[in-house]
Amino acid sequence: MINIFKILKYLRNTLKDVVVLPGPASLDLGNCIADHLSSLSIPIDLRVFSDGESKIRINANLLNKKCIVVQSTYPPVDSHLMQALMIIYSCYEYGASEVIPVIPYMGYARQDKKFLEGEFATISLIAKLLECNNIHNLITVDIHSIKAISYFNLNILNISSIRSLATYARTKLNLVDPIVISPDIGGISRAKEFSQAIQSKFFALKKIRDRITGNITIDKNLPEDIKDHDIIIIDDMISSGGTILKAVDLLKNNNCGKIYAICVHTLADDNSISKLKKNGLTDIISTNSVPRSCSKVDLSTDIANALHSIFLSAQ
Ligand code: R5P
Repeated sequence: MINIFKILKYLRNTLKDVVVLPGPASLDLGNCIADHLSSLSIPIDLRVFSDGESKIRINANLLNKKCIVVQSTYPPVDSHLMQALMIIYSCYEYGASEVIPVIPYMGYARQDKKFLEGEFATISLIAKLLECNNIHNLITVDIHSIKAISYFNLNILNISSIRSLATYARTKLNLVDPIVISPDIGGISRAKEFSQAIQSKFFALKKIRDRITGNITIDKNLPEDIKDHDIIIIDDMISSGGTILKAVDLLKNNNCGKIYAICVHTLADDNSISKLKKNGLTDIISTNSVPRSCSKVDLSTDIANALHSIFLSAQ
C-alpha cells in the first residue's frame, strides 16, 4: 500500500537537497532529469588540455547535497569515465552527503570476463574505482551483461529501455509483418521481450566473433522465411557497426522488406550511421544514452523514476 506520509516526508525533506550535475557527456539528458526532479542543474566547467587531460570545476555550494552525476561513458570512453570519477570525487570533496552516478551507457561492460589467458575482466576495475569513491547506488541502462553487474559491490539499478524502444517501433514505424531478430544468441531474451511488445515473431542469428582478430561471421541459415517481412534487428549497442553490416547483408539476400536497427546505445558516430544507412538499413533508432542523430527514445523519465525509488527506499 502507498504510504502517503512517507511520500510527503520525502517531498519535504529529500528532494529539496537533491541537485543534478550533468557531465560533459550527458548535458541534455542531465538537464531533462533535473527538470523531472524539479531540482537545480549545476553546470560543470570542463577544460581539456592539449595533452588530453581533463580538468573540472564546480562553482556551487554542494554542502549536504545529494548529488546526481549524469555522465554516460561512450567514446572517448576513458576520458568520459575519468571525468565521471573527477566529478564524483569533487562532489564529496565539497561536502556532498551522497553521490549517485547515472551512467546510462556503462563502458567496459563488454569486458566482463577473461576471454583469453593473460586478460582480466576490466569491468571489475571500474566497479572498484566507483566503490572506493564512496558510491553505494548507481543507475545504468541495459548494461551489456548480468555478469558485468556481478562485479559491483553496490546497489545497481539497471533500467531496461526495451519496452520504450518497442513502443517507439509500434507507434512510429509503419511495420509490415515484422520479425524481430537478435544478431547473436546472447541477445535472444531481449528480442523475445521486444517481439512480445510489438506482437511479432522473433529469432536469433548465430554470430561468432574471433577473439584474436575481432572478425565476425554469421551463419547463413535462417530458422524462418523472412521474404517480404519488415525486420527489426535489436541489439544492446552499435559500436563499429560490423555486426549490423553483416546481419543486413544476410537479411537483404533473403529478400526481406525494410530493415531497422534498434539499439539501446549507438556508440558509432553520425558519419558511421550514414554509412550504415547507405548499406541497406532503412533507419537506426536508439535511446539518448548517447547523443546521436538517431537517439530518439528519451530515458529521462525512467531515470527520474529510478532515482525516486532509490530516495524513497532510504526513507
Ligand atoms: C555483442 O555482444 C553486442 O551485443 C553487440 O552486438 C556488439 O558489441 C556490437 O558491436 P559492433 O557494432 O562493433 O559489431
